[in-house]
Amino acid sequence: MIRQSLKFRKAITGVCVLSLVLFVFLILNKNHTNEDIVNNLNIQKQADQRFVVPSYEENYVKIVKMQSDLNNQAENDSTKKELLETRSHIEQLEKKIALLEGRIPQKYPDVTYLGHKERKRILVTGGAGFVGSHLVDILMTQGHEVIVVDNFFTGRKRNVEHWFGHRNFEMIHHDIVNPLYVEADEIYHLASPASPPHYMQNPVKTIKTNTLGTINMLGLARRVGAKILIASTSEVYGDPMVHPQPESYWGHVNPIGPRACYDEGKRVAETLAYSYAKQENVSVRVARIFNTYGPRMHVSDGRVVSNFIMQALQNLTITVYGNGKQTRSFCYVSDLVDGLLSLMQSSYTLPVNIGNPVEHTIEVPGCRSTVSTSAAVEDDPSGAGQNIAVAKAHLHWSPKVTLKDGLQRTIDYFKEELSRKTFYNNQTYMDVNIKPHK
Ligand SMILES: NC(=O)c1ccc[n+]([C@@H]2O[C@H](COP(=O)([O-])OP(=O)(O)OC[C@H]3O[C@@H](n4cnc5c(N)ncnc54)[C@H](O)[C@@H]3O)[C@@H](O)[C@H]2O)c1
Repeated sequence: MIRQSLKFRKAITGVCVLSLVLFVFLILNKNHTNEDIVNNLNIQKQADQRFVVPSYEENYVKIVKMQSDLNNQAENDSTKKELLETRSHIEQLEKKIALLEGRIPQKYPDVTYLGHKERKRILVTGGAGFVGSHLVDILMTQGHEVIVVDNFFTGRKRNVEHWFGHRNFEMIHHDIVNPLYVEADEIYHLASPASPPHYMQNPVKTIKTNTLGTINMLGLARRVGAKILIASTSEVYGDPMVHPQPESYWGHVNPIGPRACYDEGKRVAETLAYSYAKQENVSVRVARIFNTYGPRMHVSDGRVVSNFIMQALQNLTITVYGNGKQTRSFCYVSDLVDGLLSLMQSSYTLPVNIGNPVEHTIEVPGCRSTVSTSAAVEDDPSGAGQNIAVAKAHLHWSPKVTLKDGLQRTIDYFKEELSRKTFYNNQTYMDVNIKPHK
């Protein structure tokens, strides 16, 4: 019994030892297996990473994405460039618009409305010149339709640009030596250079303008039944032997002197006017204009007012031709324009002197320039006295603006011209009575 129980105990112990050994073995074996599995998985992963070939769809999506990224970047760059270009283009356009706005008046000067019975179509030859442009201002503000014809020899678009675009205004670039076909009720024929340096520059052209040009305008007046006013000059009296000159004085002109192209040209123009009146029944008016001055005079006009003012303003030496004892009468431009309008409306058909009868020697206020003398100009009249009795009696006209006032306005204009820095500005030299409408 005891032996059997000892055997049984040994057997139990043996089983327990075996179980323990098996347990330890299993535990050890289990750890080993987990590590292996983890290692195997890592190796597999690495292998996957190295050797797994992506599918066609995956590749396609990747490539499309890369392309779109690249395109987006390129698009961003080119959009930036385009934006910069557009911005600089807009800046340039804005500058241009500002310039154009400076030239085009926002508002025109006040213009009276005339019904079709009172409104006339008026042609002004030489309307872009000094006198012509002031006349255009008055006719426009009165409410008439105005056609300006000019070849811009001495005139400038700037003188009438404040009317550009107005429905009553039209500008034709044309040389009146060639025929012109327009409809008109009245013609103010002013086209001709007026200052000696200008008309002597091309004497043949000057005489053509005053003869052929005048024939063309008288022919036009005849065709359309228009009344025509010829702008003649005191120069038809030449270097006069009579002072002051009445309209009945026939003059003292050198027909072959340097001024003859103008003086004789105007004399022929007058002869033509009265020939057309007599033969063709054309209604003519003839204004013998004396020295006129004012804003919009050509800066290189070359006559005494502009010369003295320009030289004085620039502190240059003032040139006096001859002995300096010549006298001149000076008519302010608005007075002259009033005279021309009165003559056109009057029934008086013979020549009329229009000018300021008061004679002056010249002095420029505040002038610090020195004075130099130069030889007298050939055939220059020693005095320009005039008789305006006819204008007073038949037109009820006489000049109103004093030399002091007129000179001040003219000096202001020349100052502005000298200080001008840009090509365009809004300065418009309207006559005092017709300030631009603001
Ligand atoms: N300003 C004066 O002191 C004065 C004195 C006497 C007479 N006038 C006469 O008054 C008129 C106007 O003189 P202004 O002082 O205004 O002169 P201006 O030179 O300023 O004006 C004359 C205008 O006529 C234009 N013109 C010249 N030839 C032309 C042609 N062949 N075809 C078309 N246009 C032409 C010029 O471009 C200019 O616009 C002129 O006939 C002139 O003889 C003027």
